[in-house]
Amino acid sequence: MIVSANSPQAIEAAVEVLRHGGLVAMPTETVYGLAADASQVAAVAQIYLRKQRPANNPLIVHLADVAQLSDWAINIPAVAYRIANHVWPGPVTLVLQKAAWVPEIVTAGQASIALRIPSHPVALSLLQAFGGGLAAPSANRFTRLSPTTAQHVEQGLGKDLMILDGGAANVGIESTIVDCTGERLTILRPGMLGAAALSEIVGYSVQYHTASEIQRPGSHWLHYTPQAECCLMTSAALLQQQKCDLAETGFVVYSPSVAQALGSTRLIQLSSEPAAYARELYAALHVLDAAVCRRIVVELVPDAPDWYAVRERLNKAVGAPCGVSFIQ
Ligand code: TXA
Ligand code: MG
Repeated sequence: MIVSANSPQAIEAAVEVLRHGGLVAMPTETVYGLAADASQVAAVAQIYLRKQRPANNPLIVHLADVAQLSDWAINIPAVAYRIANHVWPGPVTLVLQKAAWVPEIVTAGQASIALRIPSHPVALSLLQAFGGGLAAPSANRFTRLSPTTAQHVEQGLGKDLMILDGGAANVGIESTIVDCTGERLTILRPGMLGAAALSEIVGYSVQYHTASEIQRPGSHWLHYTPQAECCLMTSAALLQQQKCDLAETGFVVYSPSVAQALGSTRLIQLSSEPAAYARELYAALHVLDAAVCRRIVVELVPDAPDWYAVRERLNKAVGAPCGVSFIQ
């Protein structure tokens, strides 16, 4: 059931559901999350069940205030506070050593915990009214596309779930995950706040985690997949395609010249600016998926730092290994 989140009554009703161990889908600035009270084991178990998520994939706990960090994490390094104070509320998740009391089911048995303060006003109102931490993965079934609207959540998880409608997500892809447990920071998942911005905040060069290292828990090659077969093509290759080869195909492109040359009815042209592209990407894939395309061809985006996170998501959509080796 989709509920407009613009009233205090809606927030109160959601808090009531959460306190009783139920699930609520909430808007965040990145993607919609499937929230449960992170201190109730049975409530968190419902998240795994509803998403059909493997038990070894830990969850992000969402908070309302930096002061709550020390309720959930211990030995918090100064650099974590530095990042928190710069970017929160916002699309960055910090991985820290977990406090002993935190239920194992939240962190999937890890000694670390992922924490984030989202900036969406509805998420913040809900977190403030709730008072505690909300475990919330993206509100989609395991391996499916993340939702950026309340309607996407309903299509993926069903009408019986309480879904707070906060409009379309503004960032559009999941948060940057920064591991603060080692000697140096590492980015475990790229996001729209990239390595350059983080390096500037902390005063040294922050690196991306690379595929050659041990995979982070729950990282799965087939993430973010639409149901149609999905592939990436360079702009040049797309311009050379014969129209007859492209029947039953949906396109996501950003170059005006490619859009014009293809002239397909199942074509979605996104921005050539990375932040605007990221905002629309999942919605475009949801639309083409719903249009029952046999396959979805995505124009390969530029190999530039500002596009890094988008390239990573696109590689996951086509089943390529995550990390730095992109399909060309
Ligand atoms: O933008 C986001 O982060 C969204 C919104 C709802 O906040 N959430 C989200 O959650 O993307 P989810 O569960 O779909 O992805 C969380 C990722 C998973 O890949 C998980 O493995 C990783 O965070 N993660 C969670 N706890 C971790 C930990 N202790 N160490 C390393 N990775 C962790
Ligand atoms: Mg997810």
